[in-house]
Amino acid sequence: MSVYDQIAEAQASAIGEIEKTGDLDSLKAIEPVLFGKKSALSSLKRLMGEVDAEERADVGQALNQAQQTVREAHAAAKEKFELSSRRAQLESERLDLTESLQTDNRGHLHLVTQTMERLEDVFVGMGFTVSEGPQAETDWYNFEALNLPAAHPARSMFDTLYLDLGERTEIGDGEGGEATNILLRTHTSPVQVRVMESIAPPIYTVCPGRVFRRDTADASHMPVFHQIEGLVVDRGISLSDLAGTLNEFTAAYFGGAISSRLRPSYFPFTEPSAEFDITCVICEGDGCQTCQRTGWIELGGCGMVHPNVLANCGVDSEEWTGFAFGFGIDRLALMRYGIKDLRDMYTNDVRFLRQF
Ligand code: PHE
Repeated sequence: MSVYDQIAEAQASAIGEIEKTGDLDSLKAIEPVLFGKKSALSSLKRLMGEVDAEERADVGQALNQAQQTVREAHAAAKEKFELSSRRAQLESERLDLTESLQTDNRGHLHLVTQTMERLEDVFVGMGFTVSEGPQAETDWYNFEALNLPAAHPARSMFDTLYLDLGERTEIGDGEGGEATNILLRTHTSPVQVRVMESIAPPIYTVCPGRVFRRDTADASHMPVFHQIEGLVVDRGISLSDLAGTLNEFTAAYFGGAISSRLRPSYFPFTEPSAEFDITCVICEGDGCQTCQRTGWIELGGCGMVHPNVLANCGVDSEEWTGFAFGFGIDRLALMRYGIKDLRDMYTNDVRFLRQF
């Protein structure tokens, strides 16, 4: 074999080695074979001494040419592998900012809000409007106007959180503009007063919202919870309208298997007053642990609006009568979904919230 053939063969075998590689690592691994002292071209260079003097220049040129060709093939392969490895790295580090939309992870309304909206829907369907009032109230709206004067023993029913507004406690918002205590409303009943002050009867309204009581959080109590208040003021309203409305609501919200009953009770702002119970939604009246084997669950308070309350709101109790009711929303949601611990609703663990 001529020396030129040997050079051509060494070049072809080096190029063949390069073509066999598939990535930067395997290319690096064959570099000694391509360029090292023991590479085919290097050994040929060592044979130069044996080549005839007049041929030496040509053979040398052929060797350099072959070496150059191998270098170029190596450089091209290296560039190709570097590019593709950079691409792979970029791809693996890509941030998909559209991910939250693709995975339907957008979240939804909180269970309490859902329950509140469903309750509103049922009452709106019965012809009621929805009213709201402030969460920070004056003593007048939360107590006095509701026939609960300062020393009234029934105030102890409500463990009240008072706000320390510093200088601003002098804000006069009570009857006659005198200074009043500002507190976090303990029930939604103050909205009754605000509604009667602002619109003339007939009134058919519900007032859902957040209420506050000084309570330690446990499985069935939270210092912050939600109520929905109902208020009807019209001519000739009687206790049977109250009973009928509550029964109608119960069937619309819970379904026909659940009914309601009234039990005599006491609230300073209603006379007569009652607690209203519904058929236990868990056992449908058979008796179970949730209803303590009575078949009934206490939902809230109600009664005929006290004439003193009507008078405090400028409503003539000779012409108008009315009823009111109020019940807790959180406990309702708790029962409906069989949730054991009220605190779960407010710790905002998405694994819990996602279920509803
Ligand atoms: N406000 C009362 C409570 O929180 C409930 C109630 C509302 C009672 C309306 C009678 C009329 O306990």
